[in-house]
Amino acid sequence: MRYFGQDFLQRVSDSVNIADVIGSYVPLKKKGGRYWACCPFHHEKTPSFSVSPDKGLYYCFGCHASGNVFTFVQKMENLTFPEAVEHLAEMAHIELPEEEVSEEERQKQSEMTAMYEAARLAADYFHNCLTKTRMGEAGLAYFQKRHLTAETIEYFKLGFAPPAWDKLFRDFTQKKQIAPKTLVDAGLVGYSNGRYFDMFRNRCMFPILNLKGKPVAFGGRVLDDSKPKYLNSPETPIFNKRRLLFALYQALPKIRETRQVIMVEGYMDAISLHAHGVTNVVASLGTAFTIEQARLLKRYADEVVFSYDMDAAGQNATRRALEIAGTVGLKIRVARVGEGKDPDEFVNLHGGEAYLEAVRQAQPALDYLLASLLRQYDPTSLEGQQHILQEMFSVLTARDDSFLINSYIRKMAQAMRLDEGLIRSEATRYVKKNHAKVYISPRETAEETVSRESQKQVRLEEGFLTYCMQYHRAPSSWAEMKAFQYTSPFCQRLAQAMEEVQESGQVLSEKAVQQKLGQDDIEALAALLMKAEDTVSVPWEEFVRPLKLGALQKAYKMHTERASTLAHADPEGSRREMLACIQLSREIRELQKKTSE
Ligand code: UTP
Ligand code: MN
Repeated sequence: MRYFGQDFLQRVSDSVNIADVIGSYVPLKKKGGRYWACCPFHHEKTPSFSVSPDKGLYYCFGCHASGNVFTFVQKMENLTFPEAVEHLAEMAHIELPEEEVSEEERQKQSEMTAMYEAARLAADYFHNCLTKTRMGEAGLAYFQKRHLTAETIEYFKLGFAPPAWDKLFRDFTQKKQIAPKTLVDAGLVGYSNGRYFDMFRNRCMFPILNLKGKPVAFGGRVLDDSKPKYLNSPETPIFNKRRLLFALYQALPKIRETRQVIMVEGYMDAISLHAHGVTNVVASLGTAFTIEQARLLKRYADEVVFSYDMDAAGQNATRRALEIAGTVGLKIRVARVGEGKDPDEFVNLHGGEAYLEAVRQAQPALDYLLASLLRQYDPTSLEGQQHILQEMFSVLTARDDSFLINSYIRKMAQAMRLDEGLIRSEATRYVKKNHAKVYISPRETAEETVSRESQKQVRLEEGFLTYCMQYHRAPSSWAEMKAFQYTSPFCQRLAQAMEEVQESGQVLSEKAVQQKLGQDDIEALAALLMKAEDTVSVPWEEFVRPLKLGALQKAYKMHTERASTLAHADPEGSRREMLACIQLSREIRELQKKTSE
């Protein structure tokens, strides 16, 4: 990793204005010596993200994200620290310092250059062998059997490794004058018992390209049923398995365009899909999906659609991959292409359009996860239920998204045939115990709960308004309550009457209010005033906060319901409802926090 000295970092940060940098991502508003914006690191409608150019720092009062110009760019662009420094230096038109390289470093650099060159030559060598020599005929026949055209073979630069023990070794060391050590370091040649031998023999070759399009490693497949089916290059200084994916280089343009990646397991799956016009496809490199790969994809895409084999191994791989992709904030879905088939077989049978349809219909990760947990554990046993709930909660609370968990609990109740209230209380316990940042709303389906809640709300509303009349004045929170929507239509009209009394400059007496209120409501008013107990002395907040809370909870429910009703017919509308839910859940938590202070 590149190292920058303190002086250089200082120069870069002196040459850029943190407000300009942040302002190029989010609109900033100046207030005093600070700038404010809606935080780019969490959803919000009112700005709580502040930037101080004097201090060169930012801080979000909502999600507590904070840092300086480097950490900001790092987070926004998903970069490493040195990458962020380079990015900013470029913005400020500052030339990067000559790299101070030690002799050791220089040595390493030149070894790597030699390995890149060896890998490039090997890719050419295998490709030539496949397409231009008699040795390659078996390989060509194999690729043809697998429906690959000459064009596809060319595009992926597929190749064939000759069957001899050390043909590549001899050709490369003798004709091309490459040092044996370079070939061993690059993973092309092995050494044992005093003999060098080619790593790949009698195999169809799949070159693995890095992000710059240079070959850095290979996968090699046998032509028959012998083992191992695929042999892959080992990790080398030019090949880090955890940070690369097969076909990523070829897939990048389409991934950037669609902001979507399709992940498959096998080399052949990726190649066949590309050949059928589905070009945002990448394949794992015979290893589990890694966090580094997830971060890498996050740079270019918002969504990953996993299209793994539907056998048990594929399912487990999918579940692990979901957790990883979820933590970096990628949206995830899982596509199914029928039992026992891999995407390669599917696309050869049914074509690219059919595959794309399967991708369009891919199941959201959570639905997939729940279904697969239901297969794995017995949802009728207490133990099974606990397992399923724990695993689901852990995924559901990983992100600060109250809408998600609340709307999902209902689904879980249905799928597990459990009481929704029970799941809610389990979820509440889980959230408390794990200090998760989500709000679990009260049970949503039972009619009686709803009506009990709204009765409580009406009592609060009546209490609040009575209180105001008893004191003959509106509390300071009256202004705050202006836009408040009362549950009870009567209270709504009463509040309106009280508003009018105040506007006319009168004392807010019971009499004055009576005059403003329509005749039809007098009965109700009387009942209210007569029922009221003697003047109570509690702070206004005791009415106002619960009132607001109740209203917010009600609105939250309504938006949740709308979001799920619209989910299929109007995804855009559903999304808007969800955003409303997210905002409401924040306000609810905010209010709950104040109340418990
Ligand atoms: P699969 O065994 O699912 O095979 O391996 P596949 O991709 O369908 O292969 P084909 O269609 O028979 O050619 C999936 C991936 O796992 C890695 C490879 O990357 C392979 O593409 N793998 C598999 C290995 O690395 N080594 C193996 O021995 C087998
Ligand atoms: Mn296959």
